[in-house]
Amino acid sequence: MPEKNGDPGQSLAELSLSLDGVEQTARLGRGLGELCRPGDVLLLEGDLGAGKTTLAGAIARGLGVAGEYHVTSPSFALLHEYPGRLSFYHMDCYRLTGEGDIEAAGLAEYLEGRGVCVVEWPDRLGSLRPEESLEVRLEHAGREQRRATLQAHGASWRQRLGRLAAELAGGGGEGC
Ligand SMILES: Nc1ncnc2c1ncn2[C@@H]1O[C@H](COP(=O)(O)OP(=O)(O)OP(=O)(O)O)[C@@H](O)[C@H]1O
Ligand SMILES: [Mg+2]
Repeated sequence: MPEKNGDPGQSLAELSLSLDGVEQTARLGRGLGELCRPGDVLLLEGDLGAGKTTLAGAIARGLGVAGEYHVTSPSFALLHEYPGRLSFYHMDCYRLTGEGDIEAAGLAEYLEGRGVCVVEWPDRLGSLRPEESLEVRLEHAGREQRRATLQAHGASWRQRLGRLAAELAGGGGEGC
């Protein structure tokens, strides 16, 4: 699955992964959720149907959000909040035109909250885009295949991305 691996203690700015089926996407999401800390922001980019909501659901599981909460796209509600090891805020900015809209909808404060904020369509954030974040770009690569490019912004995410790469390469767990 990983094409660029990191040593366990080494930080990594970018990681490229081939996700051959939903289970591999789920495994990536759970791994990300387990790494999350209070105040984290994860930006999920990609075309319609690329797998952003699927990944967000798996991040929720890694954060300890109970399985009874089905993570669905917050396209109309704009934001869904779930309780977990940390609060999980799932934001979908698709219908918003820019940062003015986001502030007017009261979403800006979640980007600075103590929970973990996962944002679909983060290009709408403009100047609200945080300096520290993990950016995940998903691309179609076949009916069940996706390509994920993870970019770490900030030292904390670079360190954790190195750990994640090592974990995924180690093959712990099922899937890939
Ligand atoms: N490897 C894969 N990873 C993620 N999703 C996959 C994969 N293979 C197939 N799929 C399917 O692709 C679809 C992805 O839908 P999803 O709602 O997660 O996309 P999205 O990026 O959130 O779309 P939108 O922009 O409309 O919000 C799901 O039906 C999922 O089952
Ligand atoms: Mg979605």
